[in-house]
Order: sequence, then structure tokens, then C-alpha cells
Amino acid sequence: MNSNTPQPVTFKPSGPLTGKISVPGDKSISHRALILSALAVGKSRITGLLEGEDVLATAAALRAMGARIEKAGDVWTVYGVGVGGLMQPDNALEMGNSGTSTRLLMGLVASHGITATFIGDASLTKRPMGRVIDPLSQMGVDIQARETSDHKSCLPLTVRGLCPAIPIEYRLPVASAQVKSAILLAGLNTPGITRIIEPVLTRDHSETMLKGFGAEISVETDAEGCRVISLTGEAELQPQKIKVPGDPSSAAFLVVAALIVPGSNIVIENVGINPTRSGLFEVLQTMGGDISFKKKRTVGGEPVADIYVKHSSLTGIDVPANIAPSMIDEFPVLFIAAAMASGETTTCGLHELRVKESDRLSQMAKGLAQLGVKLTEKEDGMVIEGSGGKPLSGGRTKPVIETALDHRIAMSFAVAGLATKSGLAIDDITPVQTSFPGFQELITALISQ
Ligand code: S3P
Repeated sequence: MNSNTPQPVTFKPSGPLTGKISVPGDKSISHRALILSALAVGKSRITGLLEGEDVLATAAALRAMGARIEKAGDVWTVYGVGVGGLMQPDNALEMGNSGTSTRLLMGLVASHGITATFIGDASLTKRPMGRVIDPLSQMGVDIQARETSDHKSCLPLTVRGLCPAIPIEYRLPVASAQVKSAILLAGLNTPGITRIIEPVLTRDHSETMLKGFGAEISVETDAEGCRVISLTGEAELQPQKIKVPGDPSSAAFLVVAALIVPGSNIVIENVGINPTRSGLFEVLQTMGGDISFKKKRTVGGEPVADIYVKHSSLTGIDVPANIAPSMIDEFPVLFIAAAMASGETTTCGLHELRVKESDRLSQMAKGLAQLGVKLTEKEDGMVIEGSGGKPLSGGRTKPVIETALDHRIAMSFAVAGLATKSGLAIDDITPVQTSFPGFQELITALISQ
């Protein structure tokens, strides 16, 4: 995927963003909706599914392992094979750019009696997989991965599933919902109780959705304040009707665009506001952002609202490290907001940003410096001196920003382009298709309303 020829695109200063729009479905929930539906016994129906390349990679892999998945209009229908019912894929599973597909499906394959090889694009092939290999190996699963010269286990890798696998109790060494979910998915077809101890809360969609599909899963807090998630294996999942809410991680780009472009006033309808995902909105409000949530409701166990955003004068703050897991994908666009704020914004505790689709600290620092932003890149964060609302400038020449196959770097700088003196270019806009098809069209629609 992303094999299309790179398409450089210019983003120029714009008039205000106005109007009411919605964003595509939540990426995390979409992956899980397909996977759990494929494991249920019978026919599930999904609406609002994100039709981005990452989620389509998950769908293709599930089809290759025997699930029937069809699309008619906006409705996706999945005929599940039942927990334990996946079949041996004929070919390697192509994961494209998607870490979530890879890690979740590794867990899924692990406790089935099948073997699957995972391959991906240049970005995914560099990302660490040891964090999933460790717990799955403890379950008795054999995983052979490519070892890098700096001792990382990476794609391509082959998972030889074990059925039955051994149930484990595992304390998460990194705050990662992907690792947590991989273990839970492996635990679904494993006899006995699989237990995960989560010292730092990460997005909890897997737990919520597993409960919704009828799995026996409990979440408790231990004496040290850690979440303890216990899943009873050999589950029988019941098919569901799922409505996927709009992705807060996609809404984030439009929220920041409206905050930094004078005169803007937008409404984003039907966005997920699960507290394990909404850290950015809280941080932006603390910075002085005029953001409000209306028509709060619950859809399929997930909190949802319409988000109202108006242009605001932002002030830099110290972002506490403990909020990072609830906005881990939103730091690139927060850095753009910080570059337009008055005063200094500091962030820390962000080691994980270095192992996302790109090294997001280094890519963001490079691009912001090209726009004349004063900053200090630290090992685990960044200190940014804001322009106080003045348009960003790359000097005489229009900067060309390197996106490194990272959709969120591309979209963050696209938003920054709206607040420049004379525009900027993104070297390759195609990665945006992984998570936010229609991104450019939505920005154009908001500008021209
Ligand atoms: C995701 C979890 C996060 C996030 C990714 C999606 C998920 O990764 O960055 O975009 O759907 O579970 P980590 O759990 O590795 O932090």
C-alpha cells in the first residue's frame, strides 16, 4: 500500500474554516469491529466503518483466513467463523502501513493452529514487534522475526500458532493498547483465564467491545492502582450490530485547524470522546481553546458528541506526561497548535512517539524548524516557543515537508500550511489514505463554506 507515486501537495494560508461536517469512522474501533465480527458465530453488521487502507488491510487478512466480509452501500456484513475457526492463509498477510492490523492479528493467529507471515511497507518494516512477540512467546507460540542490527524484532515475521496456547498473566511493560489487545485476542481461543495487568490506562475499546460481543471479561483495580483485565478463554462470541463513531484522532486535525485560523467556527458531528482518547481536547482547552461538546450520548458503549470549535488565542502550557496515553496519536498536531500559541509549550514522557509510523518527534522537529519555529527536541519530548498567533514562515522559499510515510505528519503540516505566510508543500500526501480518506476535500469544504 502507499505504493502510488508520491504526490506533493501545497497547503496555503486560508480564510476561516466554517460549517458542519463529520469525519470518517474511528480507526481503532473499525479494526476491532472487523476482527471480533470475524470471530463471532454468525452475521454481524457494521456501519460507519473507516474505509482507510489500514482497516482494509485488516479486512483483507481476515478474508484470507476464511471470514466472509461484504460491503453494500455503507453497510459491511461479516460472516464470522467462530473463535478457533480461522483457516490457514495461502499467502503472506500484507499489512501495508498498519501497526494495529499487524499487532492485533498476530495475537489472533497466535492461538489458532495456523501459520501466517506478516509483511508491510517500509515504515511498518522498521517498527518494533518484540513487544507482542514477548507475551505471545510466553503463551507457547513460535514467532520468527527479522532481527535488526540494533536487536529489534521486525517484519517480515512468521507466527506459528499454538492451539491450545497457554494462558498467561502479563504485566504490560509499555503503555500499549495494541499489545493489550493482541494478548486478549490470543486469550479468546486459549483455555483458562488470560490476565493482563495494565499499570497505565490505554484506550479500552477492546475490553468494551469484547464485553459487547458476550465474552466473559472483567476489569478490576488492584492495590497498586493498576487495571487488571481477566478474560475467560474458549469464548463464544455473539454477532453484533455496530455503529462506529467518528474518529477523535481525525477530528483532531480539524479542531486544531479551526483554533489557529482566524475567524473559524466549525462543528464536527458524531465524534467519539472516550476519555482514553480525548486528552488532546483537554490540553487544547487548557491552552485557551474554545472547544465545547454538545449532544453527548452513548453509541455501542462508546461516548460520542458533536464538537464545536472557534478560533482562539492559545497559550503555551506544560503538558503532563500522564496525559500522553490518552492523546498518543495527537502530539504531532498539538505541536502545530503549540507553534501558534503565545509562550512556551513543553511535553515529556513521549518515547513512544519515536516508534510510531515514523519517529514523530524528529519528523515534527525537522518540519517545524523549516517553518521557522523555535524549538528544542528532547529524547522524550519537545519544547516549542509559539509565534503568538503570527503566521509561520519558512523564509523566502516554500518549505517542502518530509512526511516519512506517516499520515499524521502529513496532516499536521497540512493544517500548519493554513497558518503560514505563503504556504508549504507536503512531499507525499498518499499516506493520508491509511486513516483519513477525504481529508483534503473536507478541509477544502470547510474553507469554502
Ligand atoms: C492503537 C493504539 C495506539 C495508537 C494506534 C492505534 C490501537 O498504539 O498509536 O494508532 O488501535 O490499539 P499503541 O497501543 O502501540 O500505543
